[in-house]
Amino acid sequence: MTIRPAASETGDPLLLTPGPLTTTKRVKEAMVHDWGSRDATFIGVNKAVLETLPKIIHGQDDFVAVPMQGSGTFAVEAMLTTFVPRNGKALMLINGAYGHRAKKILDIAGRATIVHETPEDTPPNLVEIEAILAADPAITHVFVVHCETTSGIRNPVEAIAALVARHGRRLLIDAMSAFGALPLDARVTPFDAVAASSNKCIQGVPGLGFVVCRKSALAQTRGAATTLVLDLHDQAEVLGKTGQYRFTPPIHVIVAFHQALQEFLAEGGVAGRGGRYEDNARILIDGMAKLGFAPLLAPALQAPIIVTFHMPKDPAFVFQRFYDALKERGYVIYPGKLTVADSFRIGCIGALGAAEMRGALAAIEDVLAEMGVRLAAKAA
Ligand SMILES: Cc1ncc(COP(=O)(O)O)c(C=O)c1O
Repeated sequence: MTIRPAASETGDPLLLTPGPLTTTKRVKEAMVHDWGSRDATFIGVNKAVLETLPKIIHGQDDFVAVPMQGSGTFAVEAMLTTFVPRNGKALMLINGAYGHRAKKILDIAGRATIVHETPEDTPPNLVEIEAILAADPAITHVFVVHCETTSGIRNPVEAIAALVARHGRRLLIDAMSAFGALPLDARVTPFDAVAASSNKCIQGVPGLGFVVCRKSALAQTRGAATTLVLDLHDQAEVLGKTGQYRFTPPIHVIVAFHQALQEFLAEGGVAGRGGRYEDNARILIDGMAKLGFAPLLAPALQAPIIVTFHMPKDPAFVFQRFYDALKERGYVIYPGKLTVADSFRIGCIGALGAAEMRGALAAIEDVLAEMGVRLAAKAA
């Protein structure tokens, strides 16, 4: 008997990945039109998008959303090279690939950095950060990744922000895979800017990064950027004056993002979206434990975004075969990116719920049997 593979509303395999992720049919359908970039209809849609983003972090009075064409890294590079001045110095908190990438961005831009690095399964050490800040008055900024997607770890952004503020320094956050799902409240957590993108927890399609910037901090960055394209101050100034982008915007992506934001708000914003992802992650971790897979992270460190599992030791387990057999059944998982352990990852985000997570677990069980893999089940 052939079983029909699982599929999204549009018949595609389900993406259990950290984004680009499975979007709803309505998000994709929003794109089947043409709009002029200087036309009032598009300008209105774009304005609504930009007005919504600061509200997600409770920053509507003091923050402005500055879009940046491109993938998430474009937004991170724009944030770092606009906010860290040429004579500034950034303390980079690194526990995964995205922290390393941010440091590389500043190295190329010729900004001074100092690194506090912990293993991929370990959050930054607050005592050590405190000592570094106390010892080095040249440090102007601190950079942290909210959910390090490399492992799925949730870094303690609130505690780091309080510490950085106590030392009179500025915090910049890469919340690419967290924005819209993990709470971040600008009223109580001090930071200057947070970068994210259209194709993660808001569940839009890829093509637009954005940085939600503290207005007073952005105002101090005139002329600070290293490149014309990634100058957030200039981008914000022109958009503010004309409603228009300096360079061609990804119009269809922005219109789809507008639809995705409506769906995000209808789901109850961060509480609703984050709550569904929490459920997805719990079902996944419990079900995988029953099948004998151990997660990398302790529950207290695990963000409900993407879960890293240790690669089973059974020689019958060949990851590429496992991946391909799951894809045939309609589930796309994600390879590992860790240096600390041989692993693979399964995402909990996107237009997926309990039924899809349970379907993925059933498919995994089926594939293990097909491969002849025997694992010892563990309690979650
Ligand atoms: C934490 C984090 N930062 C940055 C990025 C880079 O985003 P992109 O691949 O869209 O450039 C990602 C992508 O997954 C991410 O998870």
